[in-house]
Amino acid sequence: MIFEQLNSGACKTYLVASELTKDAILVDPILQNSNEYLNLLKQRGLKLRYILDTHVHADHLSGAAALADQTGADYVMHKNSVAKCANVRVDDGHTLQIGDVTVTLLHTPGHTKDSVSVLVGDKLLTGDFLFLGEGGAGRTDLPGGDSGDHWDALQKLANLPDRLWIHPGHDYHARERSTLGEERTKNDRLARRTRTEYIQWLAGFKLGASDWMVKVIQANYSCTRDPNAVEIPCEGNTCEVKASPAQGGAVREIACESLAKLLTTNRPDLILDVRNPDEYTGELGHIDGARLLPLPDLAARAAEINEFKNKSIITICKMGGRSAKAAQTLAGLGFGDVRSMTGGMARWKSLNMPVVK
Ligand SMILES: [Fe+2]
Repeated sequence: MIFEQLNSGACKTYLVASELTKDAILVDPILQNSNEYLNLLKQRGLKLRYILDTHVHADHLSGAAALADQTGADYVMHKNSVAKCANVRVDDGHTLQIGDVTVTLLHTPGHTKDSVSVLVGDKLLTGDFLFLGEGGAGRTDLPGGDSGDHWDALQKLANLPDRLWIHPGHDYHARERSTLGEERTKNDRLARRTRTEYIQWLAGFKLGASDWMVKVIQANYSCTRDPNAVEIPCEGNTCEVKASPAQGGAVREIACESLAKLLTTNRPDLILDVRNPDEYTGELGHIDGARLLPLPDLAARAAEINEFKNKSIITICKMGGRSAKAAQTLAGLGFGDVRSMTGGMARWKSLNMPVVK
């Protein structure tokens, strides 16, 4: 079996193919990358039989419709999906045969009504049903999301083995995979909770969809072939979904432009950069005076910034996902005035704001 993740960013697209027959399936292709996928298939002599979207995406434009036009492949989605042009609509347990490779689709709703996960060999492609480690899982507060559905779907993992590889739809820390056993110990969504407890736990997390997300959902419903159909904030294909569960209620946000103004007038007491050290010193640089405290260490090291408990804090990351999680974490720890900078350093840099390297 051929198995590859094709994208360089936080948003994952998977290629699964039979070495024997050269039949292939693409899972969650991104519209802007369609030509790259077609070139790759051609180079490898692969025939695209199926394109699958694990759900109607809110964070990037799906390439499924355009690729189906160009290759004649079937566009597969769950039967609950409202995407207009998916021509194969499947139920829980449906299998697709890719040469000698059998792909089984599990209905795993919660993030959306139509979410499916893909079981192939020793791998589970989870889409936004499950992310890695502290990433948790996809939000349940977007249209079609339901925390109770998500709890129900998580129970389907009970009979799957610890050694199963988990390949998520997104990861914001450049990780490719983990095992289900590892997730059982590290991923908070898999902690033992009753259905009621789980729903209550996520209840405070109600950001709702941003305007641009609603536009992306609509474009994916109507199977756009136009890569510029929606202006997605931050850098292209950002797949920015704030995936974290509730800790301190909704995240307060601040735009890059507003922060830039504050820096010259009424500077916040603490600018907290929650990226990894190599990102802080890397290409995008950091805001002058920003203090580094990577998100994975934040909860354990929050005491280091206790003096800012009643002061103004702005959290920053690359695109705005981790900083939102950091803001929630700090709010949950009793920090009273925390805002997350939307769009992160990627947007900051695109606006030509000053950085230190
Ligand atoms: Fe999603």
